Amino acid sequence: RKKEPLRIMISGAPASGKGTQCELITQKYGLVHIAAGDLLRAEIAAGSENGKQAKEYMDKGKLVPNEIVVTMVKERLNGPDSREKGWLLDGYPRSSSQAIALKEFGFQPDLFILLEVPEEILVERVVGRRLDPITGKIYHLKYSPPETEEIASRVTQRFDDTEEKVKLRLQTHHQNVEAVLSMYEVITVKVNGSGSKQEVFAQINGALTQLLEQKQEKLGTV
Ligand code: AP5
Repeated sequence: RKKEPLRIMISGAPASGKGTQCELITQKYGLVHIAAGDLLRAEIAAGSENGKQAKEYMDKGKLVPNEIVVTMVKERLNGPDSREKGWLLDGYPRSSSQAIALKEFGFQPDLFILLEVPEEILVERVVGRRLDPITGKIYHLKYSPPETEEIASRVTQRFDDTEEKVKLRLQTHHQNVEAVLSMYEVITVKVNGSGSKQEVFAQINGALTQLLEQKQEKLGTV
């Protein structure tokens, strides 16, 4: 039977667990994970002009200008893998203008997941976060420590993961979140993101299972 790929957006405050949940979602559902922040950090690592400009904004916890972000995300959504397998868009859109741009390009999500986590937990998650530069895997010194000594010795910290910078990132988030939410109200599912990563995933998995069933039913009736 023909399968229609899923198109999902995931949003939430800094360190609410978007990247962590995206690892679990892609493992199970095989979607292409497109993370705006990861794409920007790849530009910085490549030393491109866009990367240099982006870093100035990221350092201040501000949104990178649309001229840089919109095309970057659009190109990934248009990739043959995203079209075939479906996509999981992480950290985009972050403003109504980004949402409108996406709509104009013809990209409409089936579901908008919002991770809700209280602020005091967010700061603790940011400060303890570590990344494995080889596998890209996300760790936390307390909540999901590296599995081996070898990984523990090579993990790195993101340049914007300080208590001071996360406050600025949170401010930016609060300024923009309502405008984005209002554009996806009917397809939004709010998830309590303060439990363990498996507890959070169970809620998301429930919503995705239901969505897939609905899609299959629709396909079966036409
Ligand atoms: P981006 O990279 O998207 O950062 P962010 O939104 O601040 O989100 P994070 O990546 O910090 O957190 P996350 O929610 O993925 O959490 P994670 O799973 O890692 O953006 C960075 C910057 O790029 C922005 O500030 C902006 O400048 C720019 N930018 C990005 N997108 C843009 C756009 N669309 N337009 C303009 N500019 C843009 O988890 C965090 C930690 O908590 C980890 O250590 C993890 O192990 C731990 N953890 C996760 N879940 C749990 C759990 N359930 N229990 C305990 N610990 C947990």
